[in-house]
Amino acid sequence: MLREFEPRDLEPIAAIVEEALHERYEPALYMSLSDPWRDGFLVAADPSGRPAGFLLGVSQVENEGRVLMFAVHRDWRSQGVGSILMEEFLRRTRARGLHRATLEVRVSNAGAIRFYSRYGFSVIDLLRGYYSDGENGYQMARDLPPG
Ligand SMILES: CC(C)(COP(=O)(O)OP(=O)(O)OC[C@H]1O[C@@H](n2cnc3c(N)ncnc32)[C@H](O)[C@@H]1OP(=O)(O)O)[C@@H](O)C(=O)NCCC(=O)NCCS
Repeated sequence: MLREFEPRDLEPIAAIVEEALHERYEPALYMSLSDPWRDGFLVAADPSGRPAGFLLGVSQVENEGRVLMFAVHRDWRSQGVGSILMEEFLRRTRARGLHRATLEVRVSNAGAIRFYSRYGFSVIDLLRGYYSDGENGYQMARDLPPG
């Protein structure tokens, strides 16, 4: 079910992003963001091969992996898809020799904050007006000890 991103995933992923994250991005953006770390862009496919969820991980700061986008199609939530994606992201981040993982989340997104806390992330900063609609964000992070 878990595989790396393929160009044919662009349209279904853009639809998940629009519904779940209320954002619209140019297809070229996904391609350019995933370019430096191809296997940081993880797709959980449904039985027909269509993306049920995805996690776009990037590494823009030395020694750090960052969850840039993460969402599961609403029909597939609370069935463990997000957990599979997060566990694989953390595994790949560590395997790449990165020592820390970070992410940003809306302060109102209690479900996602609880999810991330379960994966060892804690809030390290308040990002004022971080989102395009003016909402504040939390930056969350966790260390990834080697081994
Ligand atoms: C956050 C998100 C990615 C999590 O994905 P998910 O697939 O729902 O995650 P999981 O199913 O692994 O875990 C979610 C919950 O389901 C529960 N769960 C996991 N596996 C389960 C299973 N097999 N059966 C029933 N429940 C299960 C988990 O305990 C968890 O409970 P919680 O509500 O206390 O967190 C998803 O909810 C989402 O896309 N939300 C909208 C977008 C968003 O907020 N993205 C993050 C932006 S920073």
